[in-house]
Amino acid sequence: MAEIGKVGVVGCGLMGHGIAQVAAEAGYEVAVREVDDATLQKGLGKIEKQLARAVEKGRAEQADADAVRARIRGSTDYADLAECDLVIEAITEDLQLKLDMWREVDGIVKSEAHFATNTSSLPVVDQAVAEFTGSLGKLAVPTRDTAGFVVNRLLVPFLLDGMRAYEEGVGSIAEIDEAMKAGAGHPMGPLTLSDFVGLDTLGSICDVMFEEFREKRFAQPPILRKMLAAGWYGRKSGMGFYDYSGDAPVENPGVARS
Ligand SMILES: NC(=O)c1ccc[n+]([C@@H]2O[C@H](COP(=O)([O-])OP(=O)(O)OC[C@H]3O[C@@H](n4cnc5c(N)ncnc54)[C@H](O)[C@@H]3O)[C@@H](O)[C@H]2O)c1
Repeated sequence: MAEIGKVGVVGCGLMGHGIAQVAAEAGYEVAVREVDDATLQKGLGKIEKQLARAVEKGRAEQADADAVRARIRGSTDYADLAECDLVIEAITEDLQLKLDMWREVDGIVKSEAHFATNTSSLPVVDQAVAEFTGSLGKLAVPTRDTAGFVVNRLLVPFLLDGMRAYEEGVGSIAEIDEAMKAGAGHPMGPLTLSDFVGLDTLGSICDVMFEEFREKRFAQPPILRKMLAAGWYGRKSGMGFYDYSGDAPVENPGVARS
């Protein structure tokens, strides 16, 4: 793989801001593109908050945090990705949006640049970034190019079963989460994890996987559809299975069983 100096990240949401930060921490120059300035500033704000916390906790020196931040350049203009050697997309899980985005990027970056995707479910044709992920200190697991790859193939039915268990009255939201944490040694329960993933992202992943496999285990349960219709996207929107508006999350009383 040709040497990578500058990394482009498209999307500065839950995943994109983290990818931009990790790449900058590993010493890469990063250009991150969002759709509008307000969304961009929100994502950059999260990076700044995490860097400040690292300094506060003594995990980083102020000068190093400043240097990491200085390596990240935010933009709403695709043209700012022109000099990138690698472009990683982390935009909304929607094939048409991703195809439109790649068309824009393809017209701008140099011909030898590498493209990579952070998709959770959409099959990909070509990926050659193991060396780069190694340089970030991250594990890259090669998998067959199939919808959902390894993690979502196994995780998505589990998360949806957590929702179905709640719908069927097996336990309360917190009881289901606590039971899986204690019983299976998971760091967070399925309903908390769904809120973390983002219910909109999870809904899109379900649709891709259901379309691919036509199996009920990948179908969106009614409760997920209702929550999406209500605009409850999980942690990122402040409301999901839990209400995140207070100091600590509490069960969302509006999530009624069908
Ligand atoms: N959430 C997870 O736990 C998780 C885990 C692994 C992979 N992923 C994948 O990562 C990708 C991003 O997911 P996310 O959770 O960060 O979603 P998100 O909704 O938090 O962020 C997506 C961002 O992309 C932006 N965006 C949309 N179109 C764009 C464009 N053309 N140019 C620039 N920005 C654009 C949106 O404004 C939004 O801020 C998806 O493909 C998802 O499947 C998500």
